[in-house]
Amino acid sequence: MLNYVHSIPTKIYFGKGQISHLDESLRQFGTRVLLAYGGGSIKKIGLYDEIMKILNDGGFTVVECSGIEPNPRIESVAKGVTLCRENDIEVVLAVGGGSTIDCSKAIAAGVYYEGDDLWEMVTTRVGLRKALPLVDILTLSATGSEYDSGGVITNMSTNEKLGATFTFPAVSICDPTYTFSVSKYQTAAGSADIMSHIMEGYFSVTEDSELYDGIAETVLKSVIRNLPIALAEPDNYSARANLMANSSIACSGIPEYGKQSTGWPCHAMEHELSAYYDITHGVGLAILTPRWMRYILKKDPTCVWRFVRFAKNVWNLEGEDEHQLAQAGIDALENFFRTNGIPMTLTELNIGTEHIEDMAKHANRGGRLSKAFVPLDVEDIAEIYKACL
Ligand code: NZQ
Ligand code: ZN
Repeated sequence: MLNYVHSIPTKIYFGKGQISHLDESLRQFGTRVLLAYGGGSIKKIGLYDEIMKILNDGGFTVVECSGIEPNPRIESVAKGVTLCRENDIEVVLAVGGGSTIDCSKAIAAGVYYEGDDLWEMVTTRVGLRKALPLVDILTLSATGSEYDSGGVITNMSTNEKLGATFTFPAVSICDPTYTFSVSKYQTAAGSADIMSHIMEGYFSVTEDSELYDGIAETVLKSVIRNLPIALAEPDNYSARANLMANSSIACSGIPEYGKQSTGWPCHAMEHELSAYYDITHGVGLAILTPRWMRYILKKDPTCVWRFVRFAKNVWNLEGEDEHQLAQAGIDALENFFRTNGIPMTLTELNIGTEHIEDMAKHANRGGRLSKAFVPLDVEDIAEIYKACL
């Protein structure tokens, strides 16, 4: 088991009605608020009105930054930074899914960025930055942005989608009832994202980080149990609550504590797909993950032990032949994604071979995947993309 540091400063108010803590959560930082949100789902579900009532009753000054896109663009970051600077904003309130929260983190940090080019702030990736305080209200269980410091920002003009660390939310209000309205497609995609955050760290060479491997397996089993329930009964509180709790833990780093880092190969490959084709993050991950698994198992059969553990502990499979068992676990994962309505080929997303070489090169920037569970080079990555067509 390797050394690790646990340091997550975010306070989470989890559960029904926790919006009652919104006023105090903001007021500790000031009364001038940037309200950031996406394309309007928060208005459809009545959350916008609920928030505005609290803010108006509390005498807050509210400046709105709406229209933040899925796969948020650097232009939205720039817009938010300008609004904060022009209006002496004291605290950012992000309401939405990972895209809105990520963009808000970049806005909060961008306010203090001294350069002229905010894209440079994203690409320089210096770690945590001085930032305005951020409070969020989560409406989609997926990314874990509510409990980490990362944000992923897209520059469509250069076909780049890059993650950077900006700031942790000071407070996250996680009320599962706000996710009742999430579409089946986004619910399934979000669940695939949660599972991927776990699998990216689980498939590591470290064998003895028992607590954290156990947490990882528990999260996977919980998503496997609750996603079909949430799809069949969108307002099933227990299913939505479990998905939301899993969302926050999965990307927090905790399930990887004590383990050799892996470079997160499927995320590296998926961010390229989103950068070139603007696809839903979780869908890209669901398509890539089983293909990546089959590829690395073939490339380095000695890693079979991890897949056997995955098949037994996550999918409750049994069998004498290790390689058959490993393959059965991967098949179970792929079938799970398919039966929950996720398109499982790139062709279904109208993605062809045209950018495979460029995407493969970018995904391995700085040799990022050369220390993966099974190291990958550019040719390996191109083959994995081809297996997804
Ligand atoms: O924009 P609105 O109208 O709000 O609609 C959104 C959007 O169309 C909708 N939605 C959100 N909550 C809803 C809802 N619709 C109905 N009811 C609700 N309650 O869902 C759509 C997708 O929203 P988005 O925020 O894009 O989804 P998600 O939470 O999956 O975020 C994806 C982004 O996060 C990044 C991804 O790369 C992607 O850009 N990630 C961020 C991470 C992080 N910060 O740690 C890690 C992840 O690996 C990921 O890369
Ligand atoms: Zn992800």
